[in-house]
Amino acid sequence: MVRVITYGTFDLLHYGHINLLRRAKELGNYLIVGLSTDEFNLLKGKKSYFSFEERKMMLEAIRYVDLVIPETCWEQKVEDIKKYNVDIFVMGDDWKGKFDYLSQFCKVIYLPRTPEISTTKIKYDLKEIALTKEK
Ligand code: CTP
Repeated sequence: MVRVITYGTFDLLHYGHINLLRRAKELGNYLIVGLSTDEFNLLKGKKSYFSFEERKMMLEAIRYVDLVIPETCWEQKVEDIKKYNVDIFVMGDDWKGKFDYLSQFCKVIYLPRTPEISTTKIKYDLKEIALTKEK
């Protein structure tokens, strides 16, 4: 059994997220997602549209995802890797280099991001549409 772990907020779930999760799962047979809690998001300067429970419910419905655990702080990764016997840590390449220190515990892989889609872009585009309608 090859266990893979990834982390993120996964708000306004989009095809970039699905691509990341699919490719992460293809690296092994069991995919764990560390999902940022609402409190941790605030610490990161993020405010998600969907709550932790709503984002968790959607992630659990994705066929590539086997387990969703809460991500409450930056420092938990080593403990998670040990606790869940993780073989591979995966993140999108916007995080390239940031988690290399984990390579003493498991393999670290950065996957290329899907171009031209992000939660930030969706929020921006919807705001633009609303503003255009107001004019
Ligand atoms: N991701 C990806 N391709 C995208 C968007 C996200 O591969 N187009 C990956 C990120 O690299 C990360 C995971 O999906 O490993 C979760 O990213 P998250 O930050 O939750 O999504 P974003 O859409 O990047 O959100 P934001 O715009 O708020 O940063």
